Amino acid sequence: MHILQENPAYVYKLNPDLAKIDWDHIISLFYKIEWKHRKAHEIEAAFKLSTTTIFIYKEGQVIAFGRVVGDGRYYAMLADIVVDPDYQGQGLGKYVVTALNNQLIDYHFVNLSAAPGADPFYKSMGWKKQTTAFIWPQGPKQLRQHCEVEE
Ligand SMILES: CC(C)(COP(=O)(O)OP(=O)(O)OC[C@H]1O[C@@H](n2cnc3c(N)ncnc32)[C@H](O)[C@@H]1OP(=O)(O)O)[C@@H](O)C(=O)NCCC(=O)NCCS
Repeated sequence: MHILQENPAYVYKLNPDLAKIDWDHIISLFYKIEWKHRKAHEIEAAFKLSTTTIFIYKEGQVIAFGRVVGDGRYYAMLADIVVDPDYQGQGLGKYVVTALNNQLIDYHFVNLSAAPGADPFYKSMGWKKQTTAFIWPQGPKQLRQHCEVEE
């Protein structure tokens, strides 16, 4: 279990009432980081099926979030780790990942698919590259961004 430092200017909520989240605002944050293929009603449904969610607020507005998709005991995957670009570089991403990971003690496998360029972010927290992971690419972009080049 890692100790977490909170900034008193922000409000941190683990597993908040998802009915109270402004999903259009969440979609606007996805747009801000150039992840443009999610839709408000679909991301709301996906968060509701997640095992753990976390949101960080400034003055009532979400500025960072993340979630775990898991089976409650053995397998878990972190997903949608996002910090509003206006608030990046303050440790919020690290907080989101660590707070989610703290919920996964004694799990068999805890993993995630990093966005291109995010390797140093995860490595800075002690995450390791998984040599045995496989992906079923959902199109040429994923094949390009997430897969080894085969000879
Ligand atoms: C990746 C992301 C979540 C990081 O959030 P953040 O709040 O800026 O990160 P933090 O301030 O907590 O940084 C934690 C550490 O990672 C490092 N780091 C953060 N982003 C980095 C990057 N893109 N490249 C290299 N290092 C990075 C920081 O320097 C810091 O290191 P330190 O603890 O040694 O000082 C944020 O940039 C983001 O939302 N990006 C767009 C979406 C994304 O790529 N999500 C993650 C992939 S699934």
